[in-house]
Amino acid sequence: MRFDIADASLAEEGLLRIEWAARRMPVLAAIHRRFAGERPLEGLRLGACLHVTAETANLMQALRAGGAEVTLCASNPLSTQDDVAAALVEEGIPVYAVRGEDADRYYGHIRAVLEQAPHVTMDDGADLVTTLLKECSGTDPLGSTEETTTGVLRLRAMAEAGVLRFPVVAVNDSATKHLFDNRHGTGQSALDGILRATNLLFAGRTVVVVGYGDCGTGVAARAQGLGAAVIVVEVDPVRALAAAMEGYRVLPGLEAARRGDVFVTVTGDLHVLRAEHFAVMKDGAVLANAGHFDVEIDLAALEAAAQGRRRVRANLEEWTLRDGRRLYVAAEGRLVNLAAAEGHPADVMDMSFADQALAAEWLAANAGKLEPRVYRLPEYLDAEVARIKLESLGGGVDALTPEQERYLRSWEMGT
Ligand code: NAI
Repeated sequence: MRFDIADASLAEEGLLRIEWAARRMPVLAAIHRRFAGERPLEGLRLGACLHVTAETANLMQALRAGGAEVTLCASNPLSTQDDVAAALVEEGIPVYAVRGEDADRYYGHIRAVLEQAPHVTMDDGADLVTTLLKECSGTDPLGSTEETTTGVLRLRAMAEAGVLRFPVVAVNDSATKHLFDNRHGTGQSALDGILRATNLLFAGRTVVVVGYGDCGTGVAARAQGLGAAVIVVEVDPVRALAAAMEGYRVLPGLEAARRGDVFVTVTGDLHVLRAEHFAVMKDGAVLANAGHFDVEIDLAALEAAAQGRRRVRANLEEWTLRDGRRLYVAAEGRLVNLAAAEGHPADVMDMSFADQALAAEWLAANAGKLEPRVYRLPEYLDAEVARIKLESLGGGVDALTPEQERYLRSWEMGT
């Protein structure tokens, strides 16, 4: 078996981490058990490009139980848990991922997965599909799945440009994904990453959240919960208004830049913190990104404005500007929750990866019947994932009475 990982001797630690996550993933476990009986992915090669974490390892095991032959590479050079990669290799799953890999090795790993000619691909950010469309002209997969907002945007752009050659399921668009993973997962773990990188006290500080979408909503709420004054920067008036009505200050970027002690970007957009913002930031401001790509903080502009930089903590670099102010960038501007902490807690990845497993099954069941465009998972699957998750939390949904069902479907029964 071919693979490329940092250190095979870390497997034992990785197995413990995978086991810890497994106990918090009851929905995925139920799918794993069903897959083991029904084998809906029998005979399929599945190539995945995901953050190589303990939660992903549980997804790989479920897919394998369903009959798939899985190969995994990293979807970000800094998010790989090397011990988890080692554990998966020990379990016979080929992994191509080394934390801190450079761009050449990163894309080499993506190509290694594509060399397996996967029937189904799984992406987090669409790097696998992008490389496949650019470089591979052989047999296309029967379909692909996409985990994150940025990947879905890229795939929709491909479909509009007419270059997407196979169907893709936008797992991110399932309610049980983005309403929980993006909000609660990124909300908590982005702050976890910043705290581990800095050990700052948030209480009394001003935190600027750039982008008030699903992720930004969670980050802002958690920062406020820790006692910070939160400023939101948005370009969408409705989302900006929603932030204002949650009690946050909503300001244009430049004004917010003067006031912030900690900045968190979660827009999926390019250069939302750039030279004009760095020019007015306070001495000591901390900059972190939780958006998918490391493009949100313009590091080239920061480098141009700086006279020097040094690493001051494990995931923190100090940039000294020409006027003597110091700005601190966490995790090189990459996803701070994955690079400086452990990513989303397993409890929330349980639902995202249940959706991923069901998406792979849905693609396999509908092979040959779908068009080359971006699909959503059927809503009844969302409802099923939510129901099992709620039960695992000790809750349960109520049921409509027959009279209520009739009332909600009728237009005659006004009063
Ligand atoms: P979203 O589309 O719900 O929200 C993005 C928000 O940013 C929108 O409200 C948009 O109006 C705003 N925005 C865009 N450009 C802006 C600009 N120049 N200035 C201010 N605001 C701007 O997207 P979501 O789901 O919140 O995802 C955001 C990013 O986080 C994406 O790149 C996504 O892939 C990534 N993500 C990261 C995760 C992690 O583990 N760190 C998990 C899930 C998503």
